[in-house]
Amino acid sequence: MSNPSLLILAGDGIGPEVMTEVRRVIDWYGDKRDLKFDVSEDLVGGAAYDKHGTPLTDETMAKAQAVDAVLLGAVGGPKYDNLDFSVKPERGLLRLRKEMDLFSNLRPAQCFDALADFSSLKRDVVAGLDIVIVRELTSGIYFGEPRGIFKEGNERVGINTQRYTESEIDRVARSAFELARKRGNKVCSMEKANVMESGILWREVVQKVHDEDYPDVELSHMYADAGAMQLCRWPKQFDVIVTDNLFGDLLSDAAAMLTGSLGMLPSASLGAPMANGRPKALYEPVHGSAPDIAGQGKANPIACILSFAMALRYSFDQGDEATRLENAVEKVLADGLRTADLIGEEGVQPVSTREMGDAILAALDESL
Ligand code: NAD
Ligand code: IPM
Ligand code: MN
Repeated sequence: MSNPSLLILAGDGIGPEVMTEVRRVIDWYGDKRDLKFDVSEDLVGGAAYDKHGTPLTDETMAKAQAVDAVLLGAVGGPKYDNLDFSVKPERGLLRLRKEMDLFSNLRPAQCFDALADFSSLKRDVVAGLDIVIVRELTSGIYFGEPRGIFKEGNERVGINTQRYTESEIDRVARSAFELARKRGNKVCSMEKANVMESGILWREVVQKVHDEDYPDVELSHMYADAGAMQLCRWPKQFDVIVTDNLFGDLLSDAAAMLTGSLGMLPSASLGAPMANGRPKALYEPVHGSAPDIAGQGKANPIACILSFAMALRYSFDQGDEATRLENAVEKVLADGLRTADLIGEEGVQPVSTREMGDAILAALDESL
């Protein structure tokens, strides 16, 4: 049997910096666990635009469709701010999500004990936190038509459309209920059914999927604004949160701060099963290209490394190896290693991206 295939799209800014550390982790699994991957690399985002004039070529898109999993670093940056909207780096990522039909974006927010004091909230509120936001990723206001900037009388109007079909809500709800069954068996669905018709439909469909096929899972509904408040007030009340594309984007950035830093949060974007039974999948950190620290060796590689752990679990059926990697991360944090984004206390010297990578590899070695 051939090795499973991985396509690495490191992208822009700190993307390539954090991905270099992930490459070393992938190599470690090949050398030490005989878990070998056929790895190829390509360009996405601004890097692809610089070379090809487009943030994602058709060839790269075809490669992404053909591999077992894609690992993505980050896209975007100030250099590309004034580009035409259609070729902005972010369009490359959105095309991957849309064309691979990656409708279910799992964004876990887990607070490692060693970082509980670093969160902007009190230790009590975040210690032991372990929740997952399931963000719908291929529809909603990100993709709805009509959209654009149009002339209306003597001024312009900017339009985006929130649009959800029943089947789109149905499938992401199912993925949330399935996930909840493997965890705390609780789903909270968030929308704004008080002001949006799409929210009314969202609530109805989630409830119907629940009543028909997942009555054993505890389901609650919350308006997304109240959900944001509850996430800051007492996040441990949640297990799985399921929500739309835009609310999920906002809520997951907020959830990131519960864990200490955006540099800690991984994600998995999953679609329907392929012929080999594996889901179509793209793994990426929640954070962006961090232009303010790019090129300085300061970036925290943990979000990207934990995204690879999610790939081991969700694409390659290697849950134990994923846990090994997560434990290695937990150990280096417990040992006091901190990249600059995790420095709160005075007198602690930050380590570089590479040093954090070194320490995680050493912890992996120790786990053998
Ligand atoms: P960002 O996530 O890039 O940065 C926000 C803040 O968090 C910055 O201060 C940054 O230094 C810090 N940060 C983020 N990741 C970090 C890490 N691994 N280690 C240490 N610090 C980290 O968000 P932004 O500044 O709003 O966006 C910058 C660019 O990235 C924009 O072009 C945006 O569109 C893009 N972006 C891309 C993705 C993606 O590729 N998935 C996600 C979000 C934003
Ligand atoms: C994310 C990012 C993306 C989004 C951008 C870069 C397209 O913020 O992955 O959270 O808005 O989905
Ligand atoms: Mn975002």
